[in-house]
Formats: sequence, structure tokens, C-alpha cells
Amino acid sequence: MAEDLKNPAAAEPNTSFGFARVAQDAKQGLVNDVFARVAPRYDLMNDLMSGGLHRLWKSDLVSWLAPPKSAVPYALLDVAGGTGDIALRVLETSGHGASAVICDISAEMIEIGRARGAGEGKRLSFVRGNAEALPFAKACFDAYTVAFGMRNLTRLEAALTEAYRVLKLGGRFLCLEFSSVQVPLLDTLYDAYSFNAIPVLGGLVAGDSASYRYLVESIRRFPDQKTFTQMIENAGFERVRYRNLTGGIAAIHSAWRL
Ligand SMILES: C[S@@+](CC[C@H](N)C(=O)[O-])C[C@H]1O[C@@H](n2cnc3c(N)ncnc32)[C@H](O)[C@@H]1O
Repeated sequence: MAEDLKNPAAAEPNTSFGFARVAQDAKQGLVNDVFARVAPRYDLMNDLMSGGLHRLWKSDLVSWLAPPKSAVPYALLDVAGGTGDIALRVLETSGHGASAVICDISAEMIEIGRARGAGEGKRLSFVRGNAEALPFAKACFDAYTVAFGMRNLTRLEAALTEAYRVLKLGGRFLCLEFSSVQVPLLDTLYDAYSFNAIPVLGGLVAGDSASYRYLVESIRRFPDQKTFTQMIENAGFERVRYRNLTGGIAAIHSAWRL
């Protein structure tokens, strides 16, 4: 109650949770509930829902990042890194100087990631934290990646400002996220598939259709490629570019702190 009086706007239903309107203060708790529920089946569901496509998209992100193959020190922060797909790929393709920190707000997703990354030893570490207020000093990472994490956040601008803060000068920002389909007909087919098949699949495989309905709805609420480009620029980044994947079903945005 005291919190509501301090910031009445935060208690208004003024942000989206999928297609629902909820109070800003309530959204993160709802998102956390979704990932606590889906964590055990998260990786399997990704493969089933995307027919394995998410693996190609994640490999595209790592190729574009092009981490050094040498032993030169290279510090990656993978935000909303969940079960570790991006950080593990980066470590696999880079030299011995590379290390990765996965920062995620969900203890349940981190638990799965820790088990998967056990073989990486000290090169991989996990920190529980919020992308909107990262628990790291300024200018300590060479690269910041985020895959399918941004659309779950309440305050995108705050997260982008934080990304800029923790990157070193010359540091790279890469974001893989569902985006706006650019191919006529593909958008209709994609909508039909995602709104009908994915919640059913979520119900059958994970026993939870509501969480998967949220995941689909949150895709439609995320800014399109050009709008997101502008937001990244507003946070201070330069040389902002994007690449569409599979006709714009997903997109990778790249930017530099210069
Ligand atoms: C769809 S998963 C993506 C996981 C992984 N990056 C991948 O591509 O498979 C979204 C992740 O964002 C995390 N997340 C949601 N809100 C967050 C926040 N405010 N700060 C950090 N992580 C958050 C969730 O816990 C979840 O692990």
C-alpha cells in the first residue's frame, strides 16, 4: 500500500502481460510464475514448437557475434540466459580466454542451466538478477547477448540502458527476439499456427497451455524491427543493424557501445 502511494502509476493496469493489461508492479511476478512452470520442459518445448528452428537462429546469433577463437580474454554476459543455449554455444565456438555469465531472474531456469553447463567449470557462471537493474559494475563485459528474453521485460528502456552501462567501450550488444513477419501469407499461417497449435502443444507436453498462450501473445506485443532499432539507438548504442530470420518470424539486432 505504501509503495502504491509512492508511485500510483505502478499500480495501474498500464502494461501488457500477453494480451492482458496488468499493473507494472505485478508483471514480473506473473512472468516468473510462467518460467517456474515451464522450466522442466523448456528445452524440449522449444524444439517441438519451432521444429528445431530456434537452434539455427541461436547459431546465427553466435556467428554474427563472432567471439574470438584466440586465448584473448573475452567476457560475455547472457541476459535472461535461462537454460544456457547462447552462453554454451559461445563457449563452444570461442577460444580459452572466453568466459560467460548467465544472468536470469528465474531460479528454476538457472537450475536447469547449471546442470547443462556443469562441464564448463569456471568459464561459466550464473547470477540471479533482473535485466532492468543488472547486479554488475559498469563497463565490465565485452559482449551482451539476450535471446527471447526482452519481450518478457516490463521496462525495455531500462534494460537497454543497463546493457549499455555494463558494456565496455567497443562492446557489442546482440538481441535475438521474435519479431514482425515481413512475408505476405507467412504472417497468416504463422498466426494460425502459433495461436492454435502452440497452446495445445503446451497443454499436451508441459501440462500448461496458459503459459504458452502468454508466450505467443507476448510476441505480438513486442516492438517491430524498426521500432526496436530506434529504442536501441535511444539507449546510446551506435551502428544498430538488424537481420530478419525466417521471413521476420525472428530478428537479430546488433549494436555497439562506441
Ligand atoms: C524465453 S526464455 C529465454 C531463455 C534463453 N535465453 C533461450 O533463448 O532459450 C526467457 C527468460 O527470461 C527470463 N527473464 C524474464 N524476466 C527477466 C528479467 N526481468 N530479468 C532477467 N531475466 C528475466 C526468464 O526467467 C527466462 O529464463
